[in-house]
Amino acid sequence: MKALILAGGSGTRLRPLTHTSAKQLLPIANKPIIFYGIEAIASAGIKDFAIIVGDTAEDVKKEVGDGSRWGVNITYIKQDAPLGLAHAVKISKDFMGEDPFIMFLGDNLLKEGIPEFVAKFNKHKVNSLILLTKVPNPQQFGVAELDASGKVSRLVEKPKKPKSDLALVGIYLFDSNIFKAVEAIKPSQRGELEITDAIQWLLDKGYRIEHHEVSGWWKDTGKPSDLIEANQLVLEMLGSRIEGEVDSESQLSGHVILSKGAKILNSKVVGPVVIGVNSTITNSTIGPFSSIGDNVFIENSSVKNSIIMEECRIVNVNTPVSDSILGKGVAIEGKGPDYSDHSFIVGDRSNIALS
Ligand code: G1P
Repeated sequence: MKALILAGGSGTRLRPLTHTSAKQLLPIANKPIIFYGIEAIASAGIKDFAIIVGDTAEDVKKEVGDGSRWGVNITYIKQDAPLGLAHAVKISKDFMGEDPFIMFLGDNLLKEGIPEFVAKFNKHKVNSLILLTKVPNPQQFGVAELDASGKVSRLVEKPKKPKSDLALVGIYLFDSNIFKAVEAIKPSQRGELEITDAIQWLLDKGYRIEHHEVSGWWKDTGKPSDLIEANQLVLEMLGSRIEGEVDSESQLSGHVILSKGAKILNSKVVGPVVIGVNSTITNSTIGPFSSIGDNVFIENSSVKNSIIMEECRIVNVNTPVSDSILGKGVAIEGKGPDYSDHSFIVGDRSNIALS
C-alpha cells in the first residue's frame, strides 16, 4: 500500500496566516499539522508517499523533506491549480501504479491511528473504504447516506439539506479502480473534481465501498477556530517533559512540556501547555491549552487557549490574550491597565501596540 497526502490549496479561510504559510504547516502543539498525518501513516508500516503540492510547494518540501526522518520515501507531485481532490488523485496515477493507497488530506487530524482502518480494507477486499463521523454541521462536508442495512447508498458533497449527519473524513482507502472514476466524473459547481463524486461513481458502477466510523475525535483544520480546537485536543493527549529551567518562584500544574533552553521565571503555567526551545516566560501566566513556539518572549502578560508561534513577543499585556493565534514574529506590547480579554488572529511579523 502507498500513501497520497494532499498539501495544496490556498487556505483562504485561514488568512492572514496562510499568506505566509501553507495551511498544512501551521503548528498544532508546536508541530506542523501535516506531520501528524505522516506519522500516523508511517506507523501503519506504509513507506512510499506522494505529497501533492500547489503554490506553497517549496515551503512544504523544505519543512517535510524526503521523509527519511520517519523512515519513509516522499515524492512530490505538483498540482498546477487547485482543481479538486479527485484531480489530485488523477495526477498521482503513475506514482500509484496498481497499488492500493491511503489518501490523507494534509489538514486533517485524527485521534485514533489508521491501522484498524487499513486492516479492514485488506480483510474485506473492498474497492474503497471511507471513514465517517457524526458532525453537527454536515452541510460543510461530504455527506454519506446509509441504507436500511447500514451500507453506504449515496454520497453528496456539501448538501444544502443533508439527509444524514455522517461526514466524510478526509482519509480514504482506494484500489486502482479509483483512477477510472476520476477520469469519468465532471467538475462540480465549484469547478473542482470532487472525490465524493468519484466514490459515488464507484458505487453506481457496482464497486464495493465500505465505511468505518471514527471512534475518537477528528478535526478538519479549515478555520482559525478549528486550529484552536485541534490544539486543545492534541495538547490533551501529551504528557509532561521538563527540559528547560523553572525558578523557585514559579508554579507548574497539569501536563507541561518545557523544551530545552526555555525558562519559566516567577510565572504560573497551567497545563496542558507546550513551550518551545529557548522561550522565556517572566512574571506571566500561561495556559491552559496553549502552545508557545520557539524563541518566544512573554513578560507581565497572560496567555490562554492560544497558539503563539515562534519568535513572538508579548509584553505588558495585563489582561489575558485568549483564543488567539499569533503568526511568527508577532509583537504585542501593552502600556496601561486593560479591562477585557484580547483575542487576535494575527499574521506573521505584525506589530500591535495597545494603549
Ligand atoms: C473535503 C471533501 C469533503 C470532506 C472534507 C473533509 O472538503 O471534499 O467531502 O468531508 O474534505 O475534510 P474541503 O475541505 O475540500 O472543502
